[in-house]
Amino acid sequence: MHILELRPSGEKKIKTISKLKELRNEITNLLVTKLGVSNDLATLEADILLQKAINEISSRTDIYTKSDIVITDSESRFLTTLVEERLLGKPISYLINEKEFYGRKFFVDDRVLIPRPETEHLVDEALQLVKQASSFCFFDIGTGSGIIPITLFLETKILGNKPLFTIVSDISYSALEVAKINSKNLIDDSNSIEFIQGDLFDYYYFDDIISLVNEDTTVIVTANLPYIDILDPRTDHFVKVYEPSQALFSPDRGYFSINTLVASFYAESLKCIKKSIRFKLLLEIGANQADEITSNMKNLGINKIKIIKDYSGLDRIISVEF
Ligand SMILES: C[S@@+](CC[C@H](N)C(=O)[O-])C[C@H]1O[C@@H](n2cnc3c(N)ncnc32)[C@H](O)[C@@H]1O
Repeated sequence: MHILELRPSGEKKIKTISKLKELRNEITNLLVTKLGVSNDLATLEADILLQKAINEISSRTDIYTKSDIVITDSESRFLTTLVEERLLGKPISYLINEKEFYGRKFFVDDRVLIPRPETEHLVDEALQLVKQASSFCFFDIGTGSGIIPITLFLETKILGNKPLFTIVSDISYSALEVAKINSKNLIDDSNSIEFIQGDLFDYYYFDDIISLVNEDTTVIVTANLPYIDILDPRTDHFVKVYEPSQALFSPDRGYFSINTLVASFYAESLKCIKKSIRFKLLLEIGANQADEITSNMKNLGINKIKIIKDYSGLDRIISVEF
């Protein structure tokens, strides 16, 4: 592999801009030929990796406009490692520890699922509910990197509104650590969100929480839980290798986590003594799961069900009220 020539020679190297362009082309070609990504995507990724590895490159335009760029030995080594790992299939977001969601940069690493753009529909839907509510609170279950509650918190602030409280949970302690990093990075007062390690609804002391809300509160529960069938042959190989399996797969053909959460949350809501509280549950689902999940909901007695499609026209979010 030609890029290995970047290995340290023991002294600082100065690359002229033309050398940098060669380097960029070389990385792009490797990504196209070894990973099979499109030329446009490979070029973008090459730029992202150069920017990550080389201090003097602070933006994509630096690659085209700066006349001389100093690349130190340690930067060379770092760039080589990044390219090698990318060629093995490691997602670029894990390599640069960053993924954009709803216009903000979130820290990610292999403790959490890489946020997907489809999940923005869930946030949009929750914000619609906020606009109709006089008082509301958020629970996010299976929070991962914390993208959903942190985005909701910041977007409601822009709307001039504030949740009574925001509680988030994940079964994975290490995922919660990532969510806390994002909360610290993005929210001025990071105590605005309470983090709980827990299994679906188990750890919520529902009665205590309900005692904190008013009769007219809308309790908004969001959940993008694992919903992939472990036997589904369509799951991308690199997703399976690199992303946490606890974030991806659920038993019972992918339905277990969602169906269990719906049943336990609904059962708790029926016991609630503050009868005018509105419970809203927003779930991200797999593209072919809407029929089975809604029929399960109807069997429980839940009837106010709405299905929202993603940009590709696939069923993606189920919104229910009870
Ligand atoms: C599909 S990922 C979603 C992460 C994040 N909400 C997002 O949208 O990017 C699912 C998350 O649910 C968590 N999880 C899996 N099983 C769980 C359970 N039984 N209870 C709570 N969280 C769970 C995983 O650890 C993972 O962080």
